[in-house]
Amino acid sequence: MPEILFLPENKKVTVKEGVSILDAATKNGIHLEHNCGGVCACATCHVIVTEGFGNLSPMEEDEEDQIEEAEGLTLKSRLACQAKVLGDLVVTIPFCSKGGHEH
Ligand code: FES
Repeated sequence: MPEILFLPENKKVTVKEGVSILDAATKNGIHLEHNCGGVCACATCHVIVTEGFGNLSPMEEDEEDQIEEAEGLTLKSRLACQAKVLGDLVVTIPFCSKGGHEH
């Protein structure tokens, strides 16, 4: 089963192949914003795939469009709710510079 190391929390989790990064995080108590509830409409679930970028399902058009909205976009960026885990990963959850919008 694939292992994901979440940074900066430095927490390693084992997940079933095919789950989204978002599910992998939330099911393991790792805080990851997902304002739209995982339907590819917000980009708050933006993560940076530090290692294992190829171990994810390919990006679809919806995600390509939506990820443009993400802050601090990198070449290794994905939307966690859309990217399905197919192998080992290191995932960095970017600090949200907007901050202060937690309820
Ligand atoms: S949770 Fe909104 S785009 Fe992923």
